[in-house]
Amino acid sequence: MTVEPEELLQIAVRIASGAAELARQMRDEGVTGVTTKSSATDVVTAADRAAERYVREALRESRPGDRVLGEEAGESTGAGAVRWILDPIDGTVNYLYGIPQYAVSLAAEVDGEVVAGVVRNPVSGEQWTATKGGGAWRGDVRLTGSAVTELSQTLLATGFGYDSARRVHQARVVAKLLPIVRDIRRFGAASLDLCFAAEGRVDAYYEKGLNLWDHAAGGLIGAEAGLRVGGLSGAGAGPDLVVAAPPAIWPALQDALVRLDAAGGL
Ligand code: IPD
Repeated sequence: MTVEPEELLQIAVRIASGAAELARQMRDEGVTGVTTKSSATDVVTAADRAAERYVREALRESRPGDRVLGEEAGESTGAGAVRWILDPIDGTVNYLYGIPQYAVSLAAEVDGEVVAGVVRNPVSGEQWTATKGGGAWRGDVRLTGSAVTELSQTLLATGFGYDSARRVHQARVVAKLLPIVRDIRRFGAASLDLCFAAEGRVDAYYEKGLNLWDHAAGGLIGAEAGLRVGGLSGAGAGPDLVVAAPPAIWPALQDALVRLDAAGGL
Protein backbone atom coordinates (compact mmCIF):
# COMPACT_ATOMS: atom_id res chain seq x y z
CA MET A 1 0.00 0.00 0.00
CA THR A 2 1.34 3.42 -0.99
CA VAL A 3 3.21 5.70 1.38
CA GLU A 4 3.46 8.53 -1.16
CA PRO A 5 2.92 11.77 0.79
CA GLU A 6 0.62 13.26 -1.84
CA GLU A 7 -1.67 10.21 -1.77
CA LEU A 8 -1.68 10.13 2.03
CA LEU A 9 -2.58 13.82 2.00
CA GLN A 10 -5.54 13.20 -0.30
CA ILE A 11 -6.86 10.59 2.12
CA ALA A 12 -6.23 12.89 5.09
CA VAL A 13 -8.04 15.80 3.43
CA ARG A 14 -11.08 13.71 2.53
CA ILE A 15 -11.39 12.22 6.00
CA ALA A 16 -10.66 15.46 7.89
CA SER A 17 -13.32 17.19 5.85
CA GLY A 18 -15.93 14.56 6.86
CA ALA A 19 -14.91 14.81 10.52
CA ALA A 20 -15.05 18.60 10.39
CA GLU A 21 -18.57 18.52 8.99
CA LEU A 22 -19.65 16.07 11.70
CA ALA A 23 -18.19 18.30 14.45
CA ARG A 24 -19.80 21.42 13.00
CA GLN A 25 -23.22 19.75 12.71
CA MET A 26 -23.01 18.44 16.28
CA ARG A 27 -22.09 21.97 17.47
CA ASP A 28 -25.15 23.39 15.68
CA GLU A 29 -27.35 20.85 17.46
CA GLY A 30 -25.91 21.78 20.88
CA VAL A 31 -22.86 20.51 22.72
CA THR A 32 -23.45 17.25 24.62
CA GLY A 33 -21.51 14.73 26.66
CA VAL A 34 -19.17 17.27 28.28
CA THR A 35 -16.76 15.71 30.76
CA THR A 36 -13.29 16.60 32.03
CA LYS A 37 -9.99 14.75 31.57
CA SER A 38 -6.62 15.64 33.14
CA SER A 39 -7.98 18.64 35.09
CA ALA A 40 -11.18 20.63 35.52
CA THR A 41 -10.16 22.87 32.62
CA ASP A 42 -9.41 20.00 30.23
CA VAL A 43 -12.77 19.23 28.61
CA VAL A 44 -13.95 16.65 26.14
CA THR A 45 -17.34 16.49 24.40
CA ALA A 46 -19.39 13.86 22.59
CA ALA A 47 -18.26 15.49 19.35
CA ASP A 48 -14.54 14.93 20.12
CA ARG A 49 -15.30 11.23 20.58
CA ALA A 50 -17.62 10.98 17.57
CA ALA A 51 -15.17 12.77 15.26
CA GLU A 52 -12.35 10.49 16.40
CA ARG A 53 -14.53 7.39 15.81
CA TYR A 54 -15.40 8.70 12.34
CA VAL A 55 -11.74 9.21 11.40
CA ARG A 56 -10.68 5.82 12.75
CA GLU A 57 -13.43 4.01 10.82
CA ALA A 58 -12.68 5.91 7.63
CA LEU A 59 -8.96 5.15 7.92
CA ARG A 60 -9.71 1.48 8.59
CA GLU A 61 -11.69 1.36 5.33
CA SER A 62 -9.11 3.27 3.27
CA ARG A 63 -5.92 1.90 4.82
CA PRO A 64 -6.55 -1.22 6.88
CA GLY A 65 -3.61 -2.06 9.14
CA ASP A 66 -2.29 1.48 9.61
CA ARG A 67 -1.88 2.61 13.21
CA VAL A 68 -3.70 5.59 14.65
CA LEU A 69 -2.67 7.78 17.57
CA GLY A 70 -5.67 9.87 18.58
CA GLU A 71 -6.25 12.26 21.44
CA GLU A 72 -9.36 10.53 22.71
CA ALA A 73 -8.74 6.80 22.16
CA GLY A 74 -4.93 6.55 22.34
CA GLU A 75 -2.77 4.39 20.08
CA SER A 76 -3.99 1.42 18.05
CA THR A 77 -1.76 -1.38 16.85
CA GLY A 78 -1.31 -2.54 13.27
CA ALA A 79 1.24 -3.70 10.73
CA GLY A 80 0.67 -0.82 8.27
CA ALA A 81 3.54 1.45 7.27
CA VAL A 82 1.78 4.61 8.34
CA ARG A 83 0.88 6.00 11.73
CA TRP A 84 -1.90 8.58 11.61
CA ILE A 85 -1.84 11.27 14.27
CA LEU A 86 -5.21 12.78 15.05
CA ASP A 87 -6.67 15.56 17.11
CA PRO A 88 -10.39 15.23 16.29
CA ILE A 89 -11.17 18.65 17.78
CA ASP A 90 -8.20 20.83 18.64
CA GLY A 91 -9.50 23.78 20.63
CA THR A 92 -12.23 21.93 22.49
CA VAL A 93 -12.76 24.81 24.94
CA ASN A 94 -13.43 27.13 21.99
CA TYR A 95 -15.80 24.50 20.58
CA LEU A 96 -17.64 24.33 23.89
CA TYR A 97 -18.19 28.09 23.90
CA GLY A 98 -19.01 28.39 20.20
CA ILE A 99 -15.83 30.35 19.44
CA PRO A 100 -15.13 29.55 15.77
CA GLN A 101 -11.47 28.74 16.34
CA TYR A 102 -11.14 24.99 16.50
CA ALA A 103 -9.88 22.41 14.02
CA VAL A 104 -9.56 18.82 12.95
CA SER A 105 -5.85 17.99 12.71
CA LEU A 106 -4.67 14.85 10.92
CA ALA A 107 -1.09 13.91 10.02
CA ALA A 108 0.52 10.85 8.41
CA GLU A 109 3.84 9.64 9.77
CA VAL A 110 6.11 7.19 7.95
CA ASP A 111 9.24 5.77 9.64
CA GLY A 112 8.84 8.26 12.47
CA GLU A 113 8.64 11.29 10.16
CA VAL A 114 5.50 13.32 9.48
CA VAL A 115 5.13 13.43 5.69
CA ALA A 116 1.62 14.83 5.19
CA GLY A 117 -0.77 16.88 7.27
CA VAL A 118 -4.07 18.75 7.14
CA VAL A 119 -5.64 21.19 9.57
CA ARG A 120 -9.23 22.19 8.88
CA ASN A 121 -11.40 24.79 10.59
CA PRO A 122 -14.96 23.43 10.29
CA VAL A 123 -16.58 26.85 10.75
CA SER A 124 -14.58 28.99 8.32
CA GLY A 125 -13.90 26.07 5.97
CA GLU A 126 -10.25 27.16 5.85
CA GLN A 127 -7.89 24.29 5.30
CA TRP A 128 -4.11 24.20 5.55
CA THR A 129 -2.10 21.32 4.06
CA ALA A 130 1.48 20.25 3.55
CA THR A 131 3.51 17.33 2.30
CA LYS A 132 7.17 16.76 3.07
CA GLY A 133 9.08 18.64 0.40
CA GLY A 134 5.87 19.78 -1.32
CA GLY A 135 5.31 23.12 0.40
CA ALA A 136 2.55 24.40 2.67
CA TRP A 137 -0.76 25.62 1.38
CA ARG A 138 -4.04 27.23 2.41
CA GLY A 139 -6.28 26.13 -0.43
CA ASP A 140 -4.22 26.99 -3.51
CA VAL A 141 -2.22 29.76 -1.80
CA ARG A 142 1.36 28.77 -1.08
CA LEU A 143 2.49 29.83 2.40
CA THR A 144 5.83 31.44 3.19
CA GLY A 145 5.55 32.65 6.79
CA SER A 146 6.33 36.15 7.98
CA ALA A 147 9.26 38.33 6.91
CA VAL A 148 9.74 39.79 10.41
CA THR A 149 13.36 40.38 11.43
CA GLU A 150 13.07 41.89 14.93
CA LEU A 151 11.76 40.26 18.08
CA SER A 152 10.36 43.66 19.10
CA GLN A 153 8.17 43.58 15.95
CA THR A 154 7.01 40.01 16.50
CA LEU A 155 3.36 39.13 17.04
CA LEU A 156 3.73 35.99 19.10
CA ALA A 157 1.10 33.30 19.68
CA THR A 158 1.21 30.87 22.56
CA GLY A 159 -1.04 28.58 24.55
CA PHE A 160 -1.41 27.19 28.04
CA GLY A 161 -1.61 23.63 29.31
CA TYR A 162 -4.34 22.36 31.60
CA ASP A 163 -2.21 21.77 34.69
CA SER A 164 -2.53 24.67 37.13
CA ALA A 165 1.10 24.57 38.34
CA ARG A 166 2.29 24.62 34.72
CA ARG A 167 0.01 27.58 34.07
CA VAL A 168 1.65 29.57 36.87
CA HIS A 169 5.02 29.12 35.17
CA GLN A 170 3.59 29.84 31.71
CA ALA A 171 2.01 33.06 32.99
CA ARG A 172 5.37 34.21 34.41
CA VAL A 173 7.04 33.60 31.04
CA VAL A 174 4.30 35.48 29.18
CA ALA A 175 4.56 38.43 31.59
CA LYS A 176 8.26 38.77 30.80
CA LEU A 177 7.86 38.29 27.04
CA LEU A 178 5.04 40.78 26.63
CA PRO A 179 7.19 43.92 27.01
CA ILE A 180 9.79 42.72 24.46
CA VAL A 181 7.52 41.64 21.57
CA ARG A 182 4.88 43.46 19.53
CA ASP A 183 2.06 41.61 21.29
CA ILE A 184 0.92 38.17 22.37
CA ARG A 185 -2.11 36.17 21.20
CA ARG A 186 -3.74 33.11 22.80
CA PHE A 187 -6.26 31.75 20.30
CA GLY A 188 -6.88 28.35 21.91
CA ALA A 189 -6.01 25.78 19.23
CA ALA A 190 -2.35 24.88 18.76
CA SER A 191 -2.78 23.42 15.27
CA LEU A 192 -4.35 26.67 14.05
CA ASP A 193 -1.66 28.72 15.83
CA LEU A 194 0.94 26.84 13.79
CA CYS A 195 -1.02 27.40 10.57
CA PHE A 196 -1.35 31.10 11.41
CA ALA A 197 2.44 31.28 11.84
CA ALA A 198 2.88 29.43 8.52
CA GLU A 199 0.70 32.05 6.89
CA GLY A 200 2.13 35.11 8.66
CA ARG A 201 -1.13 35.88 10.51
CA VAL A 202 1.15 35.79 13.52
CA ASP A 203 4.93 35.97 13.24
CA ALA A 204 5.81 33.10 15.56
CA TYR A 205 4.41 30.62 18.08
CA TYR A 206 5.68 28.70 21.07
CA GLU A 207 4.07 26.46 23.67
CA LYS A 208 5.20 24.09 26.37
CA GLY A 209 3.53 20.77 27.05
CA LEU A 210 1.86 20.01 23.72
CA ASN A 211 0.98 16.48 22.73
CA LEU A 212 2.00 15.13 19.33
CA TRP A 213 -1.58 15.30 18.06
CA ASP A 214 -1.61 19.08 18.75
CA HIS A 215 1.43 19.85 16.58
CA ALA A 216 2.08 16.97 14.12
CA ALA A 217 0.15 18.39 11.14
CA GLY A 218 0.64 22.08 12.00
CA GLY A 219 4.36 21.56 12.60
CA LEU A 220 4.83 20.15 9.09
CA ILE A 221 2.76 23.00 7.65
CA GLY A 222 4.96 25.53 9.49
CA ALA A 223 8.20 23.87 8.40
CA GLU A 224 7.08 23.62 4.78
CA ALA A 225 6.22 27.33 4.88
CA GLY A 226 9.87 28.00 5.69
CA LEU A 227 9.60 28.38 9.45
CA ARG A 228 12.08 26.80 11.75
CA VAL A 229 10.07 24.38 13.88
CA GLY A 230 11.61 22.61 16.84
CA GLY A 231 12.44 22.73 20.51
CA LEU A 232 15.19 24.79 22.11
CA SER A 233 18.95 24.40 21.63
CA GLY A 234 18.73 21.88 18.83
CA ALA A 235 16.06 19.68 20.41
CA GLY A 236 13.11 18.52 18.33
CA ALA A 237 9.60 19.85 18.87
CA GLY A 238 8.00 18.00 21.78
CA PRO A 239 6.36 18.34 25.15
CA ASP A 240 9.23 20.49 26.47
CA LEU A 241 8.59 23.13 23.87
CA VAL A 242 7.27 23.61 20.36
CA VAL A 243 8.63 26.74 18.72
CA ALA A 244 7.77 27.85 15.18
CA ALA A 245 9.44 31.02 13.93
CA PRO A 246 10.97 32.55 10.81
CA PRO A 247 14.73 31.81 10.77
CA ALA A 248 15.52 35.55 11.05
CA ILE A 249 14.02 35.86 14.53
CA TRP A 250 14.75 32.34 15.77
CA PRO A 251 18.02 33.25 17.58
CA ALA A 252 16.49 36.20 19.45
CA LEU A 253 13.34 34.24 20.32
CA GLN A 254 15.38 31.24 21.40
CA ASP A 255 17.58 33.44 23.63
CA ALA A 256 14.50 34.94 25.28
CA LEU A 257 12.79 31.57 25.77
CA VAL A 258 15.94 30.03 27.23
CA ARG A 259 16.54 33.04 29.53
CA LEU A 260 12.93 32.88 30.76
CA ASP A 261 13.06 29.09 31.18
CA ALA A 262 10.02 28.66 28.92
CA ALA A 263 10.67 24.92 28.72
CA GLY A 264 10.91 24.65 32.49
CA GLY A 265 8.27 24.28 35.17
CA LEU A 266 6.09 21.18 35.28
C1 IPD B 1 -5.34 22.34 23.36
C2 IPD B 1 -5.28 23.53 22.44
C3 IPD B 1 -4.73 24.74 23.16
C4 IPD B 1 -3.38 24.47 23.75
C5 IPD B 1 -3.43 23.26 24.67
C6 IPD B 1 -3.97 22.06 23.90
P1 IPD B 1 -7.26 20.51 22.90
O1 IPD B 1 -5.79 21.19 22.64
O2 IPD B 1 -4.48 23.24 21.33
O3 IPD B 1 -4.58 25.84 22.30
O4 IPD B 1 -2.95 25.60 24.46
O5 IPD B 1 -2.12 23.02 25.11
O6 IPD B 1 -4.03 20.95 24.77
O7 IPD B 1 -7.26 19.99 24.29
O8 IPD B 1 -8.26 21.57 22.69
O9 IPD B 1 -7.31 19.44 21.85
